Amino acid sequence: MTNPVRQSFNRAAGSYAASAALQQLVRDQLLRQATRGLSTDDAGTLLDAGCGTGELLQQLRDDFPRAMIIGIDFAEDMLRQQVMTPGLCRVNADLQQLPIADASIDRYLSSLAWQWCDIARAVSEAARILRPGGHLWLTTLVSGTFTELALALDQVGLQPSRHLLSMPDATKVLNHFEQAALQVVHSQRDAVTTWHDDFASLRRSIRGVGANHLPSPVREAIDRSTRLALVHAYEQQRTTHGLPLTYNVLTIHAQRC
Ligand SMILES: C[S@@+](CC[C@H](N)C(=O)[O-])C[C@H]1O[C@@H](n2cnc3c(N)ncnc32)[C@H](O)[C@@H]1O
Repeated sequence: MTNPVRQSFNRAAGSYAASAALQQLVRDQLLRQATRGLSTDDAGTLLDAGCGTGELLQQLRDDFPRAMIIGIDFAEDMLRQQVMTPGLCRVNADLQQLPIADASIDRYLSSLAWQWCDIARAVSEAARILRPGGHLWLTTLVSGTFTELALALDQVGLQPSRHLLSMPDATKVLNHFEQAALQVVHSQRDAVTTWHDDFASLRRSIRGVGANHLPSPVREAIDRSTRLALVHAYEQQRTTHGLPLTYNVLTIHAQRC
């Protein structure tokens, strides 16, 4: 069956790298934390789950030339954007059902891909493929993301839940780890605000990274006058930096028991 999230990322593949400044910031922080103290010669097997256009994979390849590095993504067009590099293995697969053997991965990394997943299935698959003692480093979006857009929608009488992806609470995500054989070593939440010149470019930034998917039966059409009212409502939140759009990013470091 066609997966609408995968279709949305396939459509965004060509514009992803140019629109993904926030993703780059979050990914770079994750990479620094995940590879701190890791031996260049003995990094083991590293997985990037939801690798997108492959920037994290390339950095891992440069930093750990002897490691076995695997990238998986379910959007084939995102994988096609990647530069083919010897020693990198890319797999078109779903991170909720990984074609990877039990206890075979030393480090599981994933940046901003889990928010479209069933967290229980993603956690259980990560626990299954990690070796005992192996590490997981994750960033995902949680509730509190796009609050400015939710406020503006609400102000013009539109239900935010019919226009925005619903993101889980951070506590709910962490609870899933408690139920799996993954012990949380550290977690933190960071509100990261991006700034935009106008409402159209703000909307484009969301679409450009494929984050605009909503199940079609839920989505409500917006007529021209409501759209103008929405732009006006959002303008009330403008500061000297421009129009704000906040992403609430949860970072988790966990270890396989
Ligand atoms: C916002 S992009 C992030 C890409 C990359 N990790 C980065 O930091 O630039 C999210 C990626 O996760 C992938 N993705 C989402 N759900 C997935 C799933 N269930 N299985 C595999 N990939 C998935 C999408 O296709 C997309 O390439």
